[in-house]
Amino acid sequence: MGNEFVSCSFLLVLLITLAHGNVLRLPSMDGGESDSSMMMGMGVEEEGKDPDYKAYFFMKDVQVGKTIPVNFPHLKESDPARNLPTKTPTSLPFSLKALPSLLRFFSIPPASPQALAMEKTLTDCQIERPGEHRACISSVDSLIDFVGGIFRPDVPFEILRTSVATKTSPVLQNYTVVEVKEKTSTKSLPCHNLPYPYAVFYCHILVDTTNRMFKVTLRGENGAVVEAVLICHMDTSKWNPSFFAFRQLGVERGTTEACHFAPAYDMVVVLVPN
Ligand SMILES: *[C@@H]1O[C@H](CO)[C@@H](O)[C@H](O)[C@H]1NC(C)=O
Repeated sequence: MGNEFVSCSFLLVLLITLAHGNVLRLPSMDGGESDSSMMMGMGVEEEGKDPDYKAYFFMKDVQVGKTIPVNFPHLKESDPARNLPTKTPTSLPFSLKALPSLLRFFSIPPASPQALAMEKTLTDCQIERPGEHRACISSVDSLIDFVGGIFRPDVPFEILRTSVATKTSPVLQNYTVVEVKEKTSTKSLPCHNLPYPYAVFYCHILVDTTNRMFKVTLRGENGAVVEAVLICHMDTSKWNPSFFAFRQLGVERGTTEACHFAPAYDMVVVLVPN
């Protein structure tokens, strides 16, 4: 997976970033996921301001030959906030208590949007939700421990990710569906990238949900090909009835599935069937 490189180069990248005086990129800094979407495990930002923003689909719309508008944000393949190193990249504390010293370490001004985003990430990572296995992980090793702890040690799993759209692709464009392959895995854990100076993923498994997972090849109007992970939530009956997915699909909760593409900065862990 090339994680050795990421791991070794992490501090270097970080130092270069700091040396250049750039603001560290924190994904979904502009509001990020709403709490409700996080609770429901969608990983889709509510961009309700744009009436054309398409995030949700019916399964029948994502079939070979169909054309659908999809929104893939631009991001850097090499972004240290996106790439999970083998080992936790730093001995820094990861707790809300340590926020002031972390802000000093990363040269982030208190009360800046980045500081608030870090505070929210640290807060969200401390919340316990009954009935939900959840963890914030920042290395492959901690992901292996987390998945092994839920199922059994050494349970085989695969990480699915949506490929990064090229910079020359418009963020929103029409894509033709070229191929659809279902991943036959009964268990999947979405891992949402949280804003932080290094890669932090909030991974969870929700009990009582039946998701279907597809690898979809899309070709954009500009010719760019994206390999995307499609997640179809087959049971939406417990979702917030006013969630924007239902407005967009024009249905009531629980009456149909709701499918969305995993954003390129997220990961989906699926167990490899025996
Ligand atoms: C996608 O195609 C439809 C039908 O041709 C068109 O109405 C729509 O504006 C296109 N959307 C984008 C984002 O290009």
